[in-house]
Amino acid sequence: MPTNSAYQVCINPTCRKTFDVQEVHSGCPACGNLLDVAYDWNKLPVPKSLRDFEARWSTQQNPLDYSGVWRFRDLLRFASDDQIVTIGEGQTQLRPSNSVAKYVGVNDGNLLLQYEGLNPSGSFKDNGMTAASTHARMVGAKMTACASTGNTSASLAIYGGATGLFDVAVFVGSGKIAFGKLSQALDYGAATLQIQGDFDDALKQVRDVCAREKIYLCNSVNPFRLEGQKSIMYRVLEGLNWEAPDWIVVPGGNLGNSSAFGKAFAEMKELGLIKRVPRLAVINAAGANTLHQLFNQQSVRWNDGHTDDAKIDTFFAEMDRDNRRASTLATAIEINRPVNLKKCLRALAVCDGVVREVSDDDILDAKAKVGAGGFGCEPASAASVAGAKLLREQGIIAPSERVVCILTGHQLKDPNATVGYHSSRPGEIDEKLKSAGITEVKFPNRPIQVANDLEKILSVLRDLG
Ligand code: F0G
Repeated sequence: MPTNSAYQVCINPTCRKTFDVQEVHSGCPACGNLLDVAYDWNKLPVPKSLRDFEARWSTQQNPLDYSGVWRFRDLLRFASDDQIVTIGEGQTQLRPSNSVAKYVGVNDGNLLLQYEGLNPSGSFKDNGMTAASTHARMVGAKMTACASTGNTSASLAIYGGATGLFDVAVFVGSGKIAFGKLSQALDYGAATLQIQGDFDDALKQVRDVCAREKIYLCNSVNPFRLEGQKSIMYRVLEGLNWEAPDWIVVPGGNLGNSSAFGKAFAEMKELGLIKRVPRLAVINAAGANTLHQLFNQQSVRWNDGHTDDAKIDTFFAEMDRDNRRASTLATAIEINRPVNLKKCLRALAVCDGVVREVSDDDILDAKAKVGAGGFGCEPASAASVAGAKLLREQGIIAPSERVVCILTGHQLKDPNATVGYHSSRPGEIDEKLKSAGITEVKFPNRPIQVANDLEKILSVLRDLG
């Protein structure tokens, strides 16, 4: 048994083997299940109230207090202060949007958007990467790697570039990631391997490579990464004056975020820091809907850790047999083999959660509504808003309930999707979007072609008036 107040532990209740935080594993060496970072809270100075964290607002010159992740370091205390790697992540905002509230169908003031696109690399991934980078430094890693649909790679690349602590190699599916994200990995100087395959292929390769070459793996199978992602929920509570909302709605890809959120709430409940746990809604794109199929159609549940593994294995065996590949315009969540499936099932149990799938048409319409309300997001992020709307239509979310949608990535990550959408009109869809299966756009804001002539320009503006 490790002697530290933080340790790693297998999530499988029939195994529960523990490992020191100085060890590096991407799964339990004994049974292959996922690992958690766990804490002996009795040995740690845990605040009595979440409000105690507010004291750190006045000491923001300290980079650890400035970081929106490490400001809450007492709840992820696996590293000492001098080991922490931070680039100022987590300066994100929770903002009400009444135009989106109207679209979703909840009362004014009840729809809040958590803008994780405001992170240094433009997505929520920085919350996790600061924690994974910290652990990489603790164990003396010289090289780090990840597979990615684009945001994880951008995030890992920025941490490598900005800190100079390690070299970075990123594995991406060839032609599978949005240009904004690819440009980031290249610009931040990461070795960028375009694997001829999709994300699921790239992840399998990078796991094998890391195991063989002792390269530090930064995908969300890394339990330290998820510790950082818990902080998104701390900031949501902070934005609501430490009150839990009724719903957290989040897109589901590899299911790291939803898993981290569930763990955050379970721990805060255990520590008496919150009275009530919000409900969690995880939203798949219809073209990458493994969680939806397993949870809703096959009724697979966490079941205190005794998941129906035979059902899960059969599902993936059939997927392989039929060579079913994920396909969605929300490329960030184009994933058929979510590695955190079991942790996500656990989060759904903790948070009385639900799972839904939404079409690409609905995702892009929701994205346009988010954009028109300010800040904006990339397609995958808008799955949360499309999912909230669906749950409202189904009567699962009530108009009087307070709903937080997580906007996981910045609008500029995928300008092609945005410009393609707004260049379309009903019955005349942009070629690229059409070939990706988009059939309808409800809220295009088309660019207006006008001659280089003052009178004609004025006449266009008058017509708008
Ligand atoms: N939203 C965005 C913008 C993402 O980039 C991702 C995942 C998700 C949602 C899904 O989050 O995996 O925690 O369920 N992107 C990963 C990547 C897979 O490689 O950038 P999840």
